[in-house]
Amino acid sequence: MQNYLEHALEEALHEERDLYQTYNLQEETERIAYHYEIDPEFFRIVTGGNWNNYSCSMWEKGFSLTQAQEKKLDHFARLMQLKPGMHILDVGCGWGGPLVYLCQKYGVTGHGITISPMAIPIAQARAQQYGVKATFEVIHWQNLRLAQQYDAIYSDEVIVHFNDLAGFFKKANQLLKPQGIMVNKELHFRHSLHKHALDKLSQHINKVYAYTGNYRTLQDELLLLDDGHFHLQEIVDIPIEDYRKTIGEYWVKHLNDNKEQLIAMTSPKHVRDFKLYLRGICHIFAADVFGLHIVAAKKA
Ligand SMILES: C[S@@+](CC[C@H](N)C(=O)[O-])C[C@H]1O[C@@H](n2cnc3c(N)ncnc32)[C@H](O)[C@@H]1O
Repeated sequence: MQNYLEHALEEALHEERDLYQTYNLQEETERIAYHYEIDPEFFRIVTGGNWNNYSCSMWEKGFSLTQAQEKKLDHFARLMQLKPGMHILDVGCGWGGPLVYLCQKYGVTGHGITISPMAIPIAQARAQQYGVKATFEVIHWQNLRLAQQYDAIYSDEVIVHFNDLAGFFKKANQLLKPQGIMVNKELHFRHSLHKHALDKLSQHINKVYAYTGNYRTLQDELLLLDDGHFHLQEIVDIPIEDYRKTIGEYWVKHLNDNKEQLIAMTSPKHVRDFKLYLRGICHIFAADVFGLHIVAAKKA
């Protein structure tokens, strides 16, 4: 990462820094790289399960992590009304697990995009392993070609990184076939006052994400969807306890159990900062700051 960005991040800890910073596409890519462009094995170990979702899973009594990951993805499939032969877009596809699962279970084909190049070979290998038609590409959503149209589009804990969410919804609308459905899952502040939380813990979490955490209220997101000419279909309210369990009982445990290996891939500071961020988020969840929702909307 460029020195100026490292310097800016250090400074941010010592000054009042609001969410919603603006930056150009190149700087956005560098900021996202700060969090995601490390050995993919790091995220494979921390996230765990068969599909390595770097996002909340949905729990039922007695579930394994893989079952909880699949239950969440089955919700996405239901909301997108997936049928064999449909072609879908995963915006912010991580390491390919979610899209490969949906393709193999529901008989769809898919395209996954990310701005984190190190994830691509992992995602492609996974598609090959399961024999599904899923392609992956390093591209910012702003640069997607309109010639390719999709039956459905989804994103799972990705839109928080977009400071131009209105622009994203407009682009998604153009990329969808008529009556196409878009599904987004994201954390939402329960009140807009939280947008101005400048305590040290919030600052640490923002820094780990290089200040790309543009958290919003659900109300903000719904207004932007409406502006983007989407018709609201359904909102699924996921208990925040599901996220606390995903992080507290799995990601933190994976990190502790594999600490030396993870340090060897990164650094002691990286692992320490990562653990503080995971535990910090659980702490913030306990304070009832966030709700977690899946929002499904249809192109008019
Ligand atoms: C929290 S991870 C979620 C990954 C995946 N959706 C999952 O649930 O496992 C966020 C993902 O969004 C991607 N991302 C961030 N900004 C992006 C952008 N502008 N365009 C496309 N992908 C982006 C990151 O590279 C990363 O893969």
